[in-house]
Amino acid sequence: MLQAATVDYVYLRQLVYGLSQNVLDPSRDYLFDTRLTKVLRNHGMTGLDELVQHLKMRKDPLLERSIAEAMTINETSFFRDSRPFELLRTDLLPKLIEARRSVRTLRFWSAACSTGQEGYSTAMLLLEHFPQLAGWNIRIEGTDLCAEVVHRAQAASYHRIEINRGLPARFVVRYFDHAGEDWVVKPEVRKVCNFRQANLCSPQLPFNRAEDKFDVIFLRNVMLYFSQETRRTLLAGIHRLLAPDGILFLGSSEQPADPSIWTAVLAGGTCHFKPRVPS
Ligand SMILES: C[S@@+](CC[C@H](N)C(=O)[O-])C[C@H]1O[C@@H](n2cnc3c(N)ncnc32)[C@H](O)[C@@H]1O
Repeated sequence: MLQAATVDYVYLRQLVYGLSQNVLDPSRDYLFDTRLTKVLRNHGMTGLDELVQHLKMRKDPLLERSIAEAMTINETSFFRDSRPFELLRTDLLPKLIEARRSVRTLRFWSAACSTGQEGYSTAMLLLEHFPQLAGWNIRIEGTDLCAEVVHRAQAASYHRIEINRGLPARFVVRYFDHAGEDWVVKPEVRKVCNFRQANLCSPQLPFNRAEDKFDVIFLRNVMLYFSQETRRTLLAGIHRLLAPDGILFLGSSEQPADPSIWTAVLAGGTCHFKPRVPS
């Protein structure tokens, strides 16, 4: 009788953890079967057992990376969880703009940006509500581990279904060009945004110079995939990159790993974090 080969999921989970620090629960091993079909096809392999055998026999960094990237969850939408954006509009940005009046510079980082909606939402918010920023140096950086989503963010082209999730109609008309089933972000929005691939868990964060300080960092809905230790290290790095009066947004169910260096502020029905000087 032909016996189905067993897949070494422990090996696959460890591989993903080593490359992205994403902790995958064994109860979700079935995700390897569904998410790696394209990787298998691209390498002419018939099953996960063959893939694992291949990797155990010889190192293949490119293949390993494509596995880690394929296992990421890239769920996002324009103005996701609307409240942080509303709070930025009504309260936080007016204060930051006043504080940056002399330097006329504002820097945002969408860390774990997925397909770019967080970054473009921020750019549209600025264009729509803060015309006084014309002539300022505005930079919105977006980074993500997964090359495929970064390419999509750079392409700035969204399907009707993605557009219909959370984007007010007047924003669609004003900031997108229609191209068949898709909508493409207009150049005036794109020009302040820059997307590139970066791993938040590599020894060095993608920004690391003193002048790289950010005014607002979005680190939303990614830490839930990390271990407590990884969260602690990452948030210490994020703390160093935030201006002393800067703002950190986490996902609605996320908390900083080390509350001693963050002050949680509850406002506008949402929570944001301000860096505290370590004592
Ligand atoms: C659920 S999405 C969140 C997107 C967006 N921040 C939001 O809240 O809508 C999580 C993103 O984190 C990225 N990610 C996972 N591990 C990462 C890592 N180690 N470094 C950088 N990005 C990572 C994934 O590729 C995915 O696009």
